[in-house]
Amino acid sequence: MFIKPKGTYDLYEEELELFQKLIDIVVNTAKLYNFRPIKTPLFEYSEVFHRKNEQSDMVKKETYDFLDKAGRKLTLRPEQTAGIVRSFVENKLYVDNSIKKFYSVGTNYRYERPQKGRFREFYQFGVEVFADQNYIIDFEIIKLLFDIATNLGLNDLVIHINSLGNSNSKKTYNDKLYNYFYEYKNELCKDCMTRLDSNTLRILDCKICSSKEFFNNTPKSIDNLDSDSKNYFDSVIKLLEKFNINYVIDNNLVRGLDYYSEIVYELKANVSGLNATIGGGGRYNSLVSELGGPDICGSGFAIGLERLFELYKTQNNNLQEKRLDCYMISLTNIERSYEIVNLLRDNNISVDINHIQKSFKALLKNALNQNPKYLLFYGDNEYEKKEISVKNTNTQKQENIKISNLIDYLKGVIK
Ligand code: HAM
Repeated sequence: MFIKPKGTYDLYEEELELFQKLIDIVVNTAKLYNFRPIKTPLFEYSEVFHRKNEQSDMVKKETYDFLDKAGRKLTLRPEQTAGIVRSFVENKLYVDNSIKKFYSVGTNYRYERPQKGRFREFYQFGVEVFADQNYIIDFEIIKLLFDIATNLGLNDLVIHINSLGNSNSKKTYNDKLYNYFYEYKNELCKDCMTRLDSNTLRILDCKICSSKEFFNNTPKSIDNLDSDSKNYFDSVIKLLEKFNINYVIDNNLVRGLDYYSEIVYELKANVSGLNATIGGGGRYNSLVSELGGPDICGSGFAIGLERLFELYKTQNNNLQEKRLDCYMISLTNIERSYEIVNLLRDNNISVDINHIQKSFKALLKNALNQNPKYLLFYGDNEYEKKEISVKNTNTQKQENIKISNLIDYLKGVIK
């Protein structure tokens, strides 16, 4: 027997149908905001992700890199943003100077230690907006993130938000943090010792170090903003308040990628004691130019769809929701039966049929396994009389219906 690779999962039947329903709800919410779709390849030339300015663990340690048969260096995308920016630049989607609002859904690949809610192949729904920096855009994106979760019936939602400032203040802050943590370098955990030089900001979200006493007086990035960034951050916060979006300012929030500046945020949900980060994002003002494009800013977020799905399932016990309308047990010539099956499908009534003849008992067992709302029995007798026997599997009520009335009848009773 072959088994699936570590960190991957299979999804089928009801669960996959429900997963697709979840994607529909998410996408429809984004469409209300006039987001348009974009699709980019699952793999890109490695340099799209492995950039000089991107030193995050995710890109340095977790990517699936490989050579194709011609020796080209390729990388499975660990996230969607960089590929979308590459596409935005390559296809010159900026030439009309209009604001661009994209959404994308797809799989991403990170060589991480698998655990609950963490996979090596996982789905994200993400949005990216390309336009000049504007706090209303950031507010709108955060509102969409919030609305998506709300439309799925989740509550106890909170946006954790922080500002890293522009690239200058981010750098000054980084130096300040370095000097601060350097003082305590002997108290840092092993990983943070390495992070001190390679990725100082990431020390802020270390679970081990954040519980130590020296952590309490860590400098905060929002104390370090210049007046433009401070006003910008305050403007977004004001709108969150005005429109009742539950938020907390989280001074330790830095996010796992290096391309962010100004606003960063994460959406957390507390469902049945499960505290999960559903998604996160922020503003990235230099990535477009870093990938060879003009000086246009970007902003967006991504949601981990497996996590959202887990929460959705806890909130909605609706795995059985989509039932088959009818199952036909054909006890007569199969071609005759197909005339009726085709008629039903043409009228948007879902139906399946036994493809081979077996004992009645076996046919019935197989039919009931499909959990149809109605069983249709069609034998030579019914054929002669131009009717069909219809049985409601809930009430067990059975009646003979004229074929000429069948569609009207079923449309009337199927909800
Ligand atoms: P990220 O925080 O790396 O951001 O990922 C966003 C979300 O994807 C996470 O909050 C989490 O729900 C989910 N996620 C991440 N890794 C895994 C995993 N191994 N298994 C399952 N779910 C996972 C980004 O990817 C940025 N590109 C978001 C963004 C868009 N920023 C600006 N635009």
